Parts: sequence; structure tokens; C-alpha cells
Amino acid sequence: MSQSLNLAIVGTGIFATDTHLPTIQKIQNLTPVATYNRTKSKAEAFAEKAEIPKDKVYDSLDEIFKDPKVDFVDALLPVQFNLDAVKLAIANNRPICFEKPIAANLEQAKEIVELSKKTDLPIAVLENWSFLKAIKILKNDILPQIGDIIGFTYNATGPWNDNNKYLATGWRLKPEHIGGFLSDGGVHQLALLTDVLGDVESISGLTKQVREQSGTDDILFSTMNLKSGVIGTFTYGSAFGATDKSTSFTIFGTNGSVVYDWSPSLNKPTITYQTGTSGQTKSDKQVIEIDEVNTFEEEFKNFAEAVSKKDKSLIVVPPAKAFHHLAIVAAALESSANGGSNVKVELA
Ligand SMILES: NC(=O)c1ccc[n+]([C@@H]2O[C@H](COP(=O)([O-])OP(=O)(O)OC[C@H]3O[C@@H](n4cnc5c(N)ncnc54)[C@H](OP(=O)(O)O)[C@@H]3O)[C@@H](O)[C@H]2O)c1
Repeated sequence: MSQSLNLAIVGTGIFATDTHLPTIQKIQNLTPVATYNRTKSKAEAFAEKAEIPKDKVYDSLDEIFKDPKVDFVDALLPVQFNLDAVKLAIANNRPICFEKPIAANLEQAKEIVELSKKTDLPIAVLENWSFLKAIKILKNDILPQIGDIIGFTYNATGPWNDNNKYLATGWRLKPEHIGGFLSDGGVHQLALLTDVLGDVESISGLTKQVREQSGTDDILFSTMNLKSGVIGTFTYGSAFGATDKSTSFTIFGTNGSVVYDWSPSLNKPTITYQTGTSGQTKSDKQVIEIDEVNTFEEEFKNFAEAVSKKDKSLIVVPPAKAFHHLAIVAAALESSANGGSNVKVELA
């Protein structure tokens, strides 16, 4: 267990209130001690819930980063402000973790990556899907059994949700960040895909805007070449008419295949695999039910350890890694604008 750490939470909106605060309160060595929000009344209500003293509800981001009692800052701002927050963190030598996607566009994301490379300060992007236990099971236990990996189909599709609480957030309705919902949720999917199979070399994609409220394109159909030579398809969107929400990742090898399914209709996410070089030599299907970890808790524990040990190399999702996930979305959008041409994906 790492040392006791005091943190400040900035941007006290939906996700700070519903997820970060309850997660942080579960972790023994983390104590929220200060907060800031653009609309101060919301920060005051948040402070009450978080047992943060009234005089630690600050009037500016600047003051938060200057407070010597704050060991690190947890930022949940509209993503176009992530770069400003990182600059303040570095100027004040205060470690920072901030919510995904890394930035509103690749230019800002590159600047964050460059700044983070030049400092020893722990800087993490909160892409919680990289902490999924399923990733380790797939990579370490299953993929070695299915021979050389040939290809994959990744499908994360679902119906439009009129009651989606995030639709009420103005910055999502008029997105300044590239890809709108495609990058908002898409970077999670791409973290999972690339953590299991490696980086993406190029993509051919077609995107479309189905819902006016999305503010921009909200569905993506694509094919990908991975750096490893593996090929596959990636389909993403929750803007369709009534349909089951379906999330599955099938990986095909020369000696078998595996399906990871985390659709909400299942009691638990499952990994189903069979081995064999042909339909005639196939094994029985093996099914693993996964007791998933709380990925939010894991990401905070990971960052707290990096801060305690003053060791940025411990961070599971540093800016350079998160950059690639946004770069895949950027390349898919560029491809679609060019009729689905093949576009190289940038690495940081
Ligand atoms: N990992 C995940 O699964 C996940 C899920 C949801 C959200 N997130 C991330 O969490 C972050 C917050 O999302 P959210 O859904 O909680 O959004 P939200 O409810 O809109 O919260 C954003 C907060 O930022 C504040 N803000 C808005 N404009 C600002 C500005 N110009 N300067 C400073 N502060 C400003 C807002 O203050 P006001 O009160 O004044 O509007 C609001 O409290 C985003 O980065 C999002 O991508 C991650």
C-alpha cells in the first residue's frame, strides 16, 4: 500500500460525483482535500459530500495547483481543457491524472505527450479499460493457445439512449473534441483492442452522423492493419435504432479462436475459446466467466503508487499510450472524409 495522499478534484460534474468520489472514498490512503468547479455552487455541494472544508473550495484552477497540501490533482474537465491543466501541473510541480480522451485534437495531444516526456512528474490519462482483468487473461492465458493470430472482429454497437445522462453536458452536444462520442467512448474500446493485439498501423473507415444530438459523426465501420500484420474490423456506435447492446471481440488464430463478450445481457463477461487447426480437429469450447475488477479503483491505486514512489514509469496509461487511441479515431475520420482511403495511424 502506498503512502497517504491528499488530492484535489477539479471539474465536479457527473462523473466526478457519481464515480470518482465514491471510488476515491473506497481507497484507504486517498483523501480529497480541495476542489474547484467553474460553477462554484456545484463545487460546494461536491465538497459537502466529499467532506472537503468550505475554505478549500477554490475560485480558480490556478489556486488548486498552488495548494501545498495537495499531493496530486484529479481533473475531470471537458477534454479541451486537459492541456491547460497539464501545463499548470508542470508549472507547479503537482502530479496530475486526468480523464480521457487525452485531448480535443492531436495537436493538443502531442503537446501533452511532449510535456510529459520532459518531466519526471507522474502524469496519467484515466483510461480505465486498460485495467480490465480480461485483457491479462486474453493476452497471457488464451492467445498463446490459438497459434499465430490472423485477424479479429471487434463489435461494440447499441441503441441510441434518450436517457443518457451525458447528453445533458453542453460540451458533448457541441463537441470541440474530434469525433464527439466516437472519441469519448471509442478510446476505451481502442485501449482494449490495442492492449490485447498491439498498435494499429493504418485504418480505412467510414463514419456517419445518425443523431443530431451527437453534434458530429457517431458511428464508425472500419478495417484495420495492425503493426503486427494482423488484420481486422472495428465497428463502433450507440446511435442505432432499437437493437441489443452487443459488445464482443473475436480473435482468429491458426490453431483456434476466442470470443470475449462483455454484452450487458450476460450475467458476467465471458471468454469462450476453442483450439485446433481445423473444423475437424477442434476442441470442445471452453468458457471462462470473468469476475471483473473495479477498473476505476485500479487506476487510482496505480496512479497513487506512481505518486508515492515518484516513479512515472509505473503509470499504466501515460499520455504517449493514450495518444495512439485518439490518433486511431483521428485517422478513421480522415479516412472517411477521403471516401474510406487507407490512413496511417500516428504513434507518439
Ligand atoms: N472513464 C469514463 O468512463 C468516463 C465516463 C464519463 C466521463 N468521463 C470523463 O470525465 C470528464 C468529465 O465528464 P462529465 O461527464 O462529468 O462532464 P460534466 O458533467 O459536464 O463535467 C465537466 C465539469 O467541467 C466543468 N467545466 C465546464 N467548462 C469548463 C471550463 N471552461 N473551465 C473549467 N471547468 C469547466 C463543468 O462545470 P460547470 O458545472 O460550470 O458546467 C463540469 O462540472 C470528461 O473528461 C469525460 O470524458 C469519463
